[in-house]
Amino acid sequence: MPLRKDFLWGGATAANQCEGAYNEGGRGLANVDVIPHGSERWAVVSGNRRMLDFEEGYYYPAKQAIDFYHHYKEDIRLFGEMGFKTYRMSIAWSRIYPQGDEEQPNEEGLRFYEEVFRECHRYGIEPLVTITHFDCPMHLIKAYGGWRNPKLVTFYKRLVTTLFTRYKGLVHYWLTFNEINVLLHGSIMGAGICFEPDEDRFKTLYTAAHHELVASAWAVKIGHEIDPENKLGCMLAAGSYYPYSCKPEDVFAAQQENHKNYFFIDVQSRGAYPAYALKEFERHHFELPMSEEEKKLLKENTVDFISFSYYSSRVASSDPQLQGEGNMMKGVKNPYLEASQWGWQIDPLGLRITMNELYDRYQKPLFIVENGLGAVDVPDENGEIQDDYRIEYLRAHIQAMKEAVEQDGIDLLGYTTWGPIDLVSAGTGEMSKRYGFIYVDRDDFGQGTLQRFKKKSFAWYKKVIASNG
Ligand code: BG6
Repeated sequence: MPLRKDFLWGGATAANQCEGAYNEGGRGLANVDVIPHGSERWAVVSGNRRMLDFEEGYYYPAKQAIDFYHHYKEDIRLFGEMGFKTYRMSIAWSRIYPQGDEEQPNEEGLRFYEEVFRECHRYGIEPLVTITHFDCPMHLIKAYGGWRNPKLVTFYKRLVTTLFTRYKGLVHYWLTFNEINVLLHGSIMGAGICFEPDEDRFKTLYTAAHHELVASAWAVKIGHEIDPENKLGCMLAAGSYYPYSCKPEDVFAAQQENHKNYFFIDVQSRGAYPAYALKEFERHHFELPMSEEEKKLLKENTVDFISFSYYSSRVASSDPQLQGEGNMMKGVKNPYLEASQWGWQIDPLGLRITMNELYDRYQKPLFIVENGLGAVDVPDENGEIQDDYRIEYLRAHIQAMKEAVEQDGIDLLGYTTWGPIDLVSAGTGEMSKRYGFIYVDRDDFGQGTLQRFKKKSFAWYKKVIASNG
């Protein structure tokens, strides 16, 4: 079976990494605005360094990012020129509810996204919308402690009700939380949580996870009630863990790591907490704060499809001395694979392996919503970017994806590359880690004209889409 005729080819971005205009249109401050570029970024992301406001001496790349807010028409026109069938983007929560807990939404924010969606439809592009991509209004962090607090579920319900009502007919594909499993590693991005000294982190993280899982089930329920045409998906930072060797302890270590990630999708897709998680909670003396109503809600409102990002496979070992690279989740180095300039290992077959694991486990349609190569692009003597390395990476992954569909029989809805236009890196805050088919003239410190121009890969991807792979 070849790729579906209506296969959703496209690209994916996130509000905080491209929009900028952090204080325009009535938008409120969010966690993602105050994450700096530079050596302290990771400490802030992981919730270990408290930075809940702008501080002197730091550069905050999300403030302006690539200014999609003012360039969206030009950018969507270029996506249309490449033949995109879908454009995955996210809503900035604090544009819709600037503080997060208001009763009424901010009309200017709602209008902005409505115009973006209408612009997409002008080119026959179906929006695929991530409701939360690492963002949380700052007020919800300061006043409520982020997703630790069950009140966030109420505010999220209000947000999704507003979105599904306002954009009925304009948007049909929704993702409830970007890379929900990242919550365990980058707590400020995943859950708006900055740890208190001596806090029981296990308890805090799994309490926040429970609130997000309940919120996600509400989104599925409300989304289907408002428009039965809506398709709601979960989103996993995927990439299966391989055992470092066939030593049973390594195989077991890989299985344990995979459980940590599947845990979220097990709940979102199967509708109940898996036994291995309940046992782990027992060992940590953690009592899951779940009501009977929530249990029923989770059971009855599972997702329609499983979306995921894939950049690399991972390796687990029983030897704690072994360490590796990655933006949020570190794995052991795989001696059989080459790596990107940022140390991310390149494994196209791993994509097929991951797809098979997810499909075997959930038996629901899959959607690859992020894949790509972050690389330094240097213009040649004519000022052009000959990004053959990016083409090579994507070609190999698209090939593996097609094999998973054609030879393994996996039902796949679509494929969106990460960052079809250069944007700010989530992991490092850099602009120089570029993923795009479209170059944006801006550097790591906010200098540059913001002018857009096409790289060599632009015409290549256009051909991939026109020929359906
Ligand atoms: C995923 C995120 O983790 O990977 C994106 O959903 C992120 O927000 C992407 O940008 C690539 O990671 P990085 O660190 O290279 O930007």
